[in-house]
Amino acid sequence: MKSRLEVNNIGKTFYSDWGEVEALKSISFTSSKSEFISIVGPSGCGKTTLLRIIAGLEKPSTGEVLIEEIPVRGPGHDRAVVFQDPRLFPWLTVEQNAAFGIEDSNKDEAKSKLDNILQLVGLENFRKAYPYELSGGMAQRVAIARAFAFKPKVLLMDEPFSALDAQTRSRMQMELVDLWQQTAKSVILVTHDISEALLLGQRVLIMSSSPGIIKETIEVPFDYPRDVDSLEFIKLKKYITSRVY
Ligand SMILES: Nc1ncnc2c1ncn2[C@@H]1O[C@H](COP(=O)(O)OP(=O)(O)O)[C@@H](O)[C@H]1O
Ligand SMILES: [Mg+2]
Repeated sequence: MKSRLEVNNIGKTFYSDWGEVEALKSISFTSSKSEFISIVGPSGCGKTTLLRIIAGLEKPSTGEVLIEEIPVRGPGHDRAVVFQDPRLFPWLTVEQNAAFGIEDSNKDEAKSKLDNILQLVGLENFRKAYPYELSGGMAQRVAIARAFAFKPKVLLMDEPFSALDAQTRSRMQMELVDLWQQTAKSVILVTHDISEALLLGQRVLIMSSSPGIIKETIEVPFDYPRDVDSLEFIKLKKYITSRVY
């Protein structure tokens, strides 16, 4: 079977007036179809840089990323990114924001796609609302709906829930698992929240900094939905925490 995503020996060095930073070094991992991978690591270890490289928004210094065996040369509709802030257009409605970038040639198909997705994220009654009328959690759900509207093969998320209150975050986490299970995408979730990584990921990649490397990969042995209060969960969370900090 073709692998969905291959990250081969990615390195990234930034050069600036005050010197150079080796943000990533020899990052390699592969993902089969519809896997959910979490990435954790301390601030500055290169998580965002890695996600931007996979998204095609940043060029690596070494190595390459393949999506179904095709090298990434720039952004593409096979990948979607959800950033930490929702980045909506204030002058567009919820549905226009969610549909933004979908080609005109596909309007009919796109519209039925969009109906499904707005329903999945619970925003079907807010399609005509503008961003200023939405709570932070709703705005982030629009961003997630937009990411799903493209039917990407790979969904890249950079701390998508970190700005939300605890209750909304927890609901969104469950919604994400639902969406993922219903749509068979590969998800790469970057988070600094170890509980979240372990709650959602089938695999957790632990990074460390200077240079940014993957220092350990954990195969998470739990089914969904996960019991955060179970002894096994707490034990594994403690272990990962001890490896990150
Ligand atoms: N455009 C850039 N120019 C220079 N240095 C950068 C740039 N982007 C990131 N870095 C540096 O690369 C390292 C990794 O950053 P980042 O990927 O944002 O880490 P994380 O998301 O894990 O906090 C940091 O040392 C950061 O300062
Ligand atoms: Mg970051």
